[in-house]
Amino acid sequence: MHALIIVSHPLATSLTHATARAIADAIGEHGGSSEIADISAEGFDPRWSPSDVAAFLKEAPQTPEILAEQARIDRADALVLVYPIYWWSFPALLKGWIDRVLANGWAYDERDDGSIERKLGHLPVHLAALGGADLRTYARHGYFGAMRTQIDHGIFDYCGAPVIQTELLVDSGPEVTLERARKIGRRVVLGK
Ligand SMILES: Cc1cc2nc3c(=O)[nH]c(=O)nc-3n(C[C@H](O)[C@H](O)[C@H](O)COP(=O)(O)O)c2cc1C
Repeated sequence: MHALIIVSHPLATSLTHATARAIADAIGEHGGSSEIADISAEGFDPRWSPSDVAAFLKEAPQTPEILAEQARIDRADALVLVYPIYWWSFPALLKGWIDRVLANGWAYDERDDGSIERKLGHLPVHLAALGGADLRTYARHGYFGAMRTQIDHGIFDYCGAPVIQTELLVDSGPEVTLERARKIGRRVVLGK
């Protein structure tokens, strides 16, 4: 079981990165392997570009940059996203990664007859979102439900990828967060 862990945060010293490492450690302890992809340090460009438009319209092949991102997902048995919540959603860097990498023709296929082929049914997805607000705030405004609708359903269901867990890591100190991260890693391998 090999997991690709995408982390989207500019600081390697952040709790977000420590969470990604704790997930990776737990995956290793339970017999799996993983690769942490630090898309900030790698300099991934989140901007939707003319080449993305051409690929979306199937007027040109994907660029090597996007093909490489898709290839490392293809090498994985599971995809884990670890990110801080910015404005009740992904950081712009991760949103741009999703816009560009989960592309038409690869993650899903919009056919000429208007139907959609969902192409990521083989890829379990695990989400770990860190936030600064407390759970009461999330509950009062329905923010977590909104995130699940937008991300789990709107993005991953659209591509057919089963979302196995969506963990909202808020309201607790680093120790509890990292303990919860280890449980996420265990579940990536064992499914429980
Ligand atoms: C631009 C920005 C927007 C943020 N928006 C939210 C938000 O909508 N909800 C929330 O709970 N926390 C929000 N936060 C707080 C971050 O989620 C929090 O600082 C981060 O998860 C802490 O993790 P780190 O120590 O790894 O940076 C925001 C932070 C920034 C910088």
